[in-house]
Amino acid sequence: MPKFKVFVTRLIPEAGLALLKKRKDISLSVYPKNRVISQKELLAGVMGTDAILCLLTDKIDASLLDAAGPQLKVVANYAVGYDNIDLAACTKRGVKVANTPGVLSNAVAEHTFALMMAVTRRIAEADKFIRAGKYHGWEPMMLLGMGLQGKTLGVIGLGRIGKGVVDRAARGMGMKIMYYDVKRDKAFEAQEPGTVFATVDQIMRKADVISIHVPLLPTTRHLINAKRLAMMKKGAYLINTSRGPIIDEKALVSALRKGLLAGAALDVFENEPALAPGLVDLPNVVLTPHIASATIGARSDMSQLAAQAIIDVLDGKQPKNLVR
Ligand code: DGY
Repeated sequence: MPKFKVFVTRLIPEAGLALLKKRKDISLSVYPKNRVISQKELLAGVMGTDAILCLLTDKIDASLLDAAGPQLKVVANYAVGYDNIDLAACTKRGVKVANTPGVLSNAVAEHTFALMMAVTRRIAEADKFIRAGKYHGWEPMMLLGMGLQGKTLGVIGLGRIGKGVVDRAARGMGMKIMYYDVKRDKAFEAQEPGTVFATVDQIMRKADVISIHVPLLPTTRHLINAKRLAMMKKGAYLINTSRGPIIDEKALVSALRKGLLAGAALDVFENEPALAPGLVDLPNVVLTPHIASATIGARSDMSQLAAQAIIDVLDGKQPKNLVR
């Protein structure tokens, strides 16, 4: 009779599941449907479990922890961001929380770059244009965009992903770098000469491309609001691969309509999967469905990291990716 029950809220790559299946002392249950689990099904699924491997779409709050029961030991989020989890409620019940840092940083930095290139060089627009049969021959003024070489990138949030974006922008594109973080990182500045620490407002005013890499916290919700969008340099671009609510999406649609910025590229949305009215009608916006970490390698590593955190906690060890 297995000693521990583990519930996985959606099918994830096999690498992580295999680690759990290997253990004779674990009874593993994976939500079988290929859709976001409903809160009702989630409450039923976690009942009596020792560990939950959940997604960023699952709300892990006090009522869910109570439904799981006092034997629950760990919640491992299949994501680096953990704003879906009530940390205080977990700590109060002695439930450990883990996430998947590091293994997705390159994937997200690469996707950020893909978005940056797509929006500044109008790739999505050009693709639609050609498919619509509008290409009738080379033109000197057709679909002109902005080159990145020598332009200023403003990175808001200099964690692993922000640093990965800076690295690619500085070395690959010869961009000048401004960054904001709650803590100035002088060691990183020494490593990336010419990188300038700045306030969010200074970045809004000066950068040609702004890329957001902060976690969603009460202090970062609507960090980019109507007031800050109005500060943007004319012709600048905004990229978001962090969390949707960091941008006031309605205000962004309005700013784009007014031409306060040249374009935006978004992988995350304020009320996913819903989009702010009017967003899809804007030609100068590139949209992807929260896939920045979606490489085969990153997703496989994420599944192993989350599963290993569960195994470590059940074995009485401290996982390396413990949030709290
Ligand atoms: C995360 O990990 O937080 C991403 O949003 C999904 O990989």
